[in-house]
Amino acid sequence: MSQDVQAKKPVIFSGVQPSGRITLGNYIGAIRNFALLDQEYDCLYCVVDLHALTVRQVPAELRRQTLELTALYIASGLDPQRNIIYCQSHVPQHAELAWILNCFTYMGELGRMTQFKDKSAQHKDNINAGLFTYPALMAADILLYQTNLVPVGADQKQHIEITRDIAQRMNSLYGDLFVVPEPYIPKATARIMSLSDPSKKMSKSDEDENATITLLDKPEDVRRKLRRAVTDSDASIRFDEEQKPGVSNLLTILSACSGKSVDALVQEMEGQGYGVLKDRTAEAINETFAPIQAEFHRLIKDKEYLTGVLRENAGRAQALAARTLRKVYKKLGLYQL
Ligand code: TYM
Repeated sequence: MSQDVQAKKPVIFSGVQPSGRITLGNYIGAIRNFALLDQEYDCLYCVVDLHALTVRQVPAELRRQTLELTALYIASGLDPQRNIIYCQSHVPQHAELAWILNCFTYMGELGRMTQFKDKSAQHKDNINAGLFTYPALMAADILLYQTNLVPVGADQKQHIEITRDIAQRMNSLYGDLFVVPEPYIPKATARIMSLSDPSKKMSKSDEDENATITLLDKPEDVRRKLRRAVTDSDASIRFDEEQKPGVSNLLTILSACSGKSVDALVQEMEGQGYGVLKDRTAEAINETFAPIQAEFHRLIKDKEYLTGVLRENAGRAQALAARTLRKVYKKLGLYQL
C-alpha cells in the first residue's frame, strides 16, 4: 500500500480461509489473480481465520495453516510490503463491524446463501449461528476498507452480492458510509472442478484426496491424481463443459498453468489420447508450483519473519479499519467520548 494515503489508488480486498490445504482451485481461481492486480490497486489479502471457526478446527492445525497460508501468499508473488497481508483475528474491527452489519441483514437473505445450505448439509451436527451469519462477517471484511474490487472464484459471487446489498441499504439510510464493491471473477478460471467428480467444484474440504490438487502436492502426487482424473469415453480432446466436463476442466487447468489458449491446446493435441492431455496438465501444474513451493519451504522455516509480517501488517490494517468503523459508529448514533 502506498505511503501517501491521500493520493489513494482504488482498493482491493480478498481473503482465503486457513481451513485446510490450499488447492489448485484457490490458486487459479483467486490467489494467482491477486498478484496480477497489485500494481494498480492498494491491496489487502487476509487470512480469514474467524471465518474458519464456523466449522470445527483442531487448534494446533489452525495455527499451522494460518502461518502456511501467509507463506503461500508471499510465495505466490505477493510482496508483504506493497500489499497488506494479515490475519483477520488480529484486526478486531472485523468482528465489531460484523455485529453492526448483522443488524442490517435479513434472515431471509442469509437463508438463501448456497454456501450456508451446502455447509449445513455437510455438517448436520454443527449448524451454528456463525455459519448462518458468515456473509455479514465477509461483508465487514470488505466494507471496512472501502474496497472497490474483490477478486474471488464464482462460488463467492453470491456473498459479494449480499455485501453490495448491505452497503447500499446502509448508504441509503445514513448517507455515504461505504464504497459499494464490485466482484472480479475472470470467467475462464472462475470454477475449477473436482478431478474425481467434474460436476462439483474442487474444494479444500473434499474427503476424497484424489479429487483435489493442493498447492503443496509433490510432483509425483500431481501426476498420479491427474492420471486418475475422471474424463469420458468419447476419446476426443474438445472443450465442451456440458458434454465433456472432465476434459474441459483439464483444458482449463492446462491453459491457466501454461498460458496457452484452450483453442491452441486443442489444436496441438488433435487426434491424441487423454493420456497426453493428463500428462501435459500434470507437467504444467508442476512447473507452475515448483517456484512457489521452493519459496514456501524457505519461508515456512522462518516463523519469526512470518510473524513479523503479520504483526506489522495488522497495524497497517487496523489504522485503515478504525477510520471506517469510527465513521459508522458516529453516523449510527453511538455516543462518542
Ligand atoms: P475460500 O477459502 O473457500 O476460497 C478462497 C478463494 O478461492 C476461490 N475458490 C475457487 N476458485 C475457482 N475454483 C475453485 N474450485 C475454487 N475454490 C475456491 C474462492 O472463490 C475464493 O475466492 N468466503 C471466502 C473467504 C472470504 C473472503 C472474504 C473472500 C472471507 N472474507 C472477503 C473475499 C473477500 C471463502 O470461503 O473462500
